[in-house]
Amino acid sequence: MYYTLPQNDHGLPHDPFKAIVAPRPIGWISSISADGVANLAPYSFFNAVSSTPHIVMFSSAGWKDSVANISATGEFVCNYVGENLAEPMNATSVPAPSDVDEFDFAAIASAPSRQVAPPRVADAWAALECRLCEITAAKAADGSTTDNWLVFGEVVGVYIDDRAIRDGRFEVDIARPVARLGYLDFAGIDGRFELKRPDWPRPK
Ligand SMILES: Cc1cc2nc3c(=O)[nH]c(=O)nc-3n(C[C@H](O)[C@H](O)[C@H](O)COP(=O)(O)O)c2cc1C
Repeated sequence: MYYTLPQNDHGLPHDPFKAIVAPRPIGWISSISADGVANLAPYSFFNAVSSTPHIVMFSSAGWKDSVANISATGEFVCNYVGENLAEPMNATSVPAPSDVDEFDFAAIASAPSRQVAPPRVADAWAALECRLCEITAAKAADGSTTDNWLVFGEVVGVYIDDRAIRDGRFEVDIARPVARLGYLDFAGIDGRFELKRPDWPRPK
């Protein structure tokens, strides 16, 4: 098959784009609002884009709470999603209002960061403390601005749980990263699994 954009006339039940650009790492972004409310949400349009200096980027479809917070405070943390945290990570993708702290909502323990104000996820195997470089809207090929916000951050501190270091390496067999595939699919290092999107408000 072959199809063209922006018509997106693939004729399939779901757009295969994100299933093709996969697996993607997940940036589990913690931030704090100007009012001091913590926020935690997963972003799989996420990657490292430079190592000198260390710069990461995530993309938000619309001006979501994470972007608003980082725009206001200039700081965020990318928490590592291992298999130990797949379910809690997914739970923090709820479309909760900005005054909801997803650490509380999903009963996720936090720990203080060292160089930035947003806390990290206590049980994450690693966390990247970041200072905002730039927030910019993604542009289409014709130069028009889209409502997709690219957030670039320079890594200023790296937390690693010492138990994840073996023979001097951040050990993948211990940290067991989770990556995003298409649809509701995720990948662990041993294969694929599915996570349903969480309901909001939480079912009684
Ligand atoms: C694994 C996963 C990856 C996600 N990746 C993105 C993404 O790259 N961009 C985006 O806008 N939303 C993404 N979402 C949805 C956001 O997590 C969701 O909209 C969340 O409520 C945003 O929270 P915030 O408003 O507190 O920033 C993803 C959800 C999941 C479960």
